Formats: sequence, structure tokens, C-alpha cells
Amino acid sequence: MNEILVIGIESTAHTAGIGIFSSTRGILANEKSEYKPISGGIHPREAAEHHSKTFPSLLKSALEKANCRMKEIAAVAVALGPGMGPCLRIGASLARALALKYGKPLVPVNHAIAHIEIARYSTRMEDPLVIYVAGGNTLITTYVEGRYRIFGETLDISLGNCLDTFARETELGFPGVPEVEKLYHKGTQLLDLPYIVKGQDVSYSGLLTHALELFKKGYAIEDLCYSLVEIAYSMLVEVAERALVHTKKKEIVLTGGVARSKILQKKLFLMAKIHNARFSSVKPEYAGDNGAMIAYAGYLALTSGIVIPVDKSFIKPLWRLEQVEIPWRKF
Ligand code: FE2
Repeated sequence: MNEILVIGIESTAHTAGIGIFSSTRGILANEKSEYKPISGGIHPREAAEHHSKTFPSLLKSALEKANCRMKEIAAVAVALGPGMGPCLRIGASLARALALKYGKPLVPVNHAIAHIEIARYSTRMEDPLVIYVAGGNTLITTYVEGRYRIFGETLDISLGNCLDTFARETELGFPGVPEVEKLYHKGTQLLDLPYIVKGQDVSYSGLLTHALELFKKGYAIEDLCYSLVEIAYSMLVEVAERALVHTKKKEIVLTGGVARSKILQKKLFLMAKIHNARFSSVKPEYAGDNGAMIAYAGYLALTSGIVIPVDKSFIKPLWRLEQVEIPWRKF
């Protein structure tokens, strides 16, 4: 079988990433550069500026790492959404330019689908319940009849955003999740914070506001971090458990930037064990946003015949994952 090489371009939020996937040798390159806000959250225009400045060198080093030239690449895959408009436009422009210059097909990739597929790829799971937790997303999904369907999500901010914002407001640093988790282990008291689960959905904004109020009142930061993490993660595990029972899946995979969390991994592992389900987490190098996952998802789409004309390759900032057909999954 001839080798098929796909290059993937990621620029939905703070990460500019370029990856190269080979059908016979796997992931050959995964180059990335992260925009770090000087203060506050991500400023979309500044992030876009960072991406446009870093893409040329990322492209060069990805091709060098993969030891290939653009003319050997079969297709250019790009994350067209969901994400921040100004950031998406940079990646889409680069992808269109490469597709036109080298006469390659352009493959549209949904960023969330890429997080799911790279998790299946890196854990070799066939048909898992997927817990997708990142700075911009918190949801539970699994494949049912041709698409990934949502079985619970956040009603407001994501889990990553909740912890990042708490860390920023309390001057623990950025990214916030590892900083909050360091202090989690030093906490001794579970404080009374709102645990908000509505049906299959979770809500984190009230929890964040309340935790910040207690911080201003002088509660110990260690106890706040312990309580915030304990409550936020338990909410997610509760809805994940119901989704597991409902869908009768036998595997659970954790993906997205927060998938690196050992605390969340342990909680999900223990829940999976009760139900005789296998638990695994995406490999750390593919947990945060990256180009390799776009290249891999692009390869799956390309080999299922999914390509898009350059003049129709609009960005889709609000593209939901359940809108995407998944022809590469047969069962
Ligand atoms: Fe992401």
C-alpha cells in the first residue's frame, strides 16, 4: 500500500500547530507554539498575530522532522472550527495557500473531532465514551449511528476555564490547572461550594464565583483549591458515569488539555472500574491543541472522500461536533 502523508494545521485558540501524519509510519511531526497572554485571558487578535508570525518556522521544522517536502504530501487538513475567528482565519489562510500553491486537496477538520480521534488513536480504544475537557470545552460524547453525540456538557464556562480563571484571579499563574492541583494536595478542608449538575449537564460559573468570593474573605488558598478541584471533577465524573451506563460502552477515554490531570484521571479510573470499563487518557503530547491531531483526523476524512474546495473553505467558529458525519467509523 502506498504511503499517504497528510499535513494538519491547528490555530483555533492559543496554539499554532503543524503536524504530519503518515498512513504507514504514524505521526511524524507535531510542531507547536503557544501564545501566552501578558495579562488576562486570550486576546484573539494578539493570538492571531502570534500564529501568523510563528507558522512559517513551524511549517519548516515540521517538514524537516518528517523528512519530507510539500510535494510529497497528499492533502492539507485544517481545523476550520470551532474556535476564535481571528485565530481560525490565520490557519485557514495558510492551508488554502499551501493547497493552491502545491495543487493539494484541502480537508476540513472539526477541532473537537480531532481531539476525539487522536485519543482513540493514541490509546487504541475502539469505541469509548469520550470525556473532552479543555480550556474551551467540557463535554461527554460517544459515537452513535454515524456521528458523535453529546451526552452532557457545560452550560456555561469550561472546566479548564474555571480553574484557569481561578488561578489567574488568585495570582497562582497560568496555565492554572497544574497550579491549582499542586495546592489541591495541601488542602485539608472541603469547603461549602456549589455542586451544580442539571440533568446531564454541568455548570461551573457559579462554582468559580463562589470560590473567588471565599478567597476574598480570606479562606486558605489550599482549602479553596482542594474544594474547587474536588467538586468540579466530581460533577464531571457523575455525568460521565450516567452516560456510561446509558450508552453501555465498555471503554472511557479522557482527552483535551485537562486530560493531563492525574487527579481527574484517577477519579475516572475508579468510576470505570466499578462498571468493569477500561479507562485510558490521551498521550500527554496530544492532550493540548496540536497539529498532529488535525493531520490524523484529516487523514481519516480524506480517505473517506471528504475534501472542500478552497473557495468554500469558510471558517466555522461555532461548528459543533455532532454536526459532523463520521463515515470512517463502520459500526
Ligand atoms: Fe482544543
